[in-house]
Amino acid sequence: MADLDGILENKDKDYGIGIPVANQHFILKGSDNLDWGMKDRLARIFNVKSGRTVMLAFDHGYIMGPTSGLERLDLGIVPLIEYADSLMCTRGSLRSVVPPTSGKAICLRSSAGSSLLTDLNNECIIDPVDAVRVNASAMAVMVAIGNQNFEAKTVENLARAVDNGYKYGVPVMGVTAVGREMARDARYFSTASRICAENGANIVKTYYCEGFAKVVNSCPVPIVIAGGKKLPEKEALELCYNAINEGAAGVDMGRNVFQSEAPAAMIQAVRGVVHDNLTPDQAYEMFRDLAKK
Ligand code: R5P
Repeated sequence: MADLDGILENKDKDYGIGIPVANQHFILKGSDNLDWGMKDRLARIFNVKSGRTVMLAFDHGYIMGPTSGLERLDLGIVPLIEYADSLMCTRGSLRSVVPPTSGKAICLRSSAGSSLLTDLNNECIIDPVDAVRVNASAMAVMVAIGNQNFEAKTVENLARAVDNGYKYGVPVMGVTAVGREMARDARYFSTASRICAENGANIVKTYYCEGFAKVVNSCPVPIVIAGGKKLPEKEALELCYNAINEGAAGVDMGRNVFQSEAPAAMIQAVRGVVHDNLTPDQAYEMFRDLAKK
């Protein structure tokens, strides 16, 4: 009994009120009322201390084919995996090049259906059992708000994915697409993000824009930002910094990492901004130092 008392005493000292340290730090917007499996998966995506994530996106091939930087996934992406918290990819690239031993959270691209060569937004969703089979920590589903032809279909895809997600305990990330005709402003992104969250998305991926804090504040779940087209490294780090400072819970970044002149240096500099609050100048200096090596 004395030993047990000792253990309980130490537990109280180490863990405050007996809640594991990780849980005390894991405050993720909108996740309080989720079930254990959902929280477990979200805690794999988001660093439990910073509450943020560096998600490496390389699902571009599902609509673009072998785009620049992704011609050889084994050479362009595999060396970067160690620096990411989570990987956003298709099940094809996951099974063909991502080592199952990498231990990274998988945000599985779970909608598909058309390519850049036709109408991008005409998608369906994959069988959620396959997401469970590959131990996905989230399913990513594209939603085309404002698209005359496919808005309803893509919102329905999200709704079905959320049904499936709750059935199997897998969170859903709503991916806000931007058609050529849509304005890339806070009004549009807050509308699209909120619609994703209201339809049950547990994470929303959108874009940084002027007035981004409005997008974050009106969305009840965490927002991660896509990097978009390749920018000079310093500008891409400024984009990350501004997004994080205005409330983003991380980045879901692809081209600005894998098309960088030094991708491994770039993803580490992005980590510095996301997890260690580096300023753009500090992160750029880190990038340049690492790129020399
Ligand atoms: C686009 O096909 C995907 O949703 C990408 O994963 C997303 O746009 C993030 O990649 P990037 O930072 O290159 O925009």
